[in-house]
Amino acid sequence: MASVSERVVLAYSGGLDTSVGIGWLKDATGKEVVALAVDVGQGGEDMEDIRQRALDCGAVEAIVVDAKDEFAADFVMPALRANALYQKRYPLVSALSRPLISKHLARVARELGADSVAHGCTGKGNDQVRFEAAVAALAPELTSIAPIRDLALTRDKAIAYAEEHGLPIKQSKKNPYSVDKNVWGRAVETGLLEDPWNAPGDGVWEYTDDPAKGLPAEDVVIRFAEGIPVAIDGKAVTPLQAIEIMNTVAGRHGVGRIDIIEDRLVGIKSREVYEAPAGIALVAAHEELENLVLERDLGRYKRKIEADWANLVYDGLWFSDLKRSLDVFIAHTQRHVSGDIRLKLQSGVAMVTGRMSDQSLYDFDLATYDTGDTFDQSHAKGFIELWSLPSKISAKRHAKNEG
Ligand code: ARG
Repeated sequence: MASVSERVVLAYSGGLDTSVGIGWLKDATGKEVVALAVDVGQGGEDMEDIRQRALDCGAVEAIVVDAKDEFAADFVMPALRANALYQKRYPLVSALSRPLISKHLARVARELGADSVAHGCTGKGNDQVRFEAAVAALAPELTSIAPIRDLALTRDKAIAYAEEHGLPIKQSKKNPYSVDKNVWGRAVETGLLEDPWNAPGDGVWEYTDDPAKGLPAEDVVIRFAEGIPVAIDGKAVTPLQAIEIMNTVAGRHGVGRIDIIEDRLVGIKSREVYEAPAGIALVAAHEELENLVLERDLGRYKRKIEADWANLVYDGLWFSDLKRSLDVFIAHTQRHVSGDIRLKLQSGVAMVTGRMSDQSLYDFDLATYDTGDTFDQSHAKGFIELWSLPSKISAKRHAKNEG
């Protein structure tokens, strides 16, 4: 009577909620739980320790995937090419990792013949939507289970369950904040930050030093090839290395601290604090290189599309048809986005101070006010005459109507 149990693949972080989630899932569904830990550069614990903990908490199998390079190349780089900043500020740190984790959840579920996947999100955030919408788009046959949300499991219940079952979870020294972290940045929520008037205290920051520390300014030169950073100060880098280096360099100047009221997809306004030194510095550099090489109307149009792209990704629609089609458009815009950008880093600011490209549309002879000017100013007069003609006609009517 060897009936094969059904399996569920759980996105496992190693923390209290998902550790307890293994037992809860088993109890509530009768399924065998496979734990999947995806390394997106969250740092902290050794992934092998996390894997072992999943087994100790009752997982039948625990899998670790090092997805840092994949995350950087396939998820962060498209965001950089899109200059993606939700509400013009947030580089989509968590929103980018969820579709990647979901992709691995779906893959492992299919490989192991599981019929469902699970995540440890609550019902109040965006991440639940991102996981489930991504899985729905990639593997529509799978069911998503959210034990924390659907069984209304609180932190106190989790601690009680862990104690009762002797689960090997050391209660982390009471971190007052909820933190989500990857190589593209950190998101910090809850605790004192829930009062939007409270300034983020020093304990919030990890990727950035105090911008008021007064380090001398530092220049860094980023070379892009088709919108992707390929060298920093002359040294060739992979996308992951570019991000890691810029986190260190921009981070020591306090670049990339963000404090905003954010509109969540579920309708809640929340106070969010982020730090993304590489994200803010690289987007500033990339955007300015585009200003140099993109034909005017293409540049203007792309800026509008960028906001749509960021909203779609924020809202969990990474694998949607519209987002994929926008990716094709954006990729096509990047053909000429190659060249060097010099950033000056100082006191929390990454300022572009130089740009150079063999794809540049900047024409010195047209732009100069000195001798050698090739721009024929006599054309401007007639151009403006025609350009303002519709306004002039309309103004005349207005004058007539007003009497
Ligand atoms: N509000 C941000 C977002 O929706 C950050 C989410 C952080 N996630 C977390 N589980 N703490 O992208």
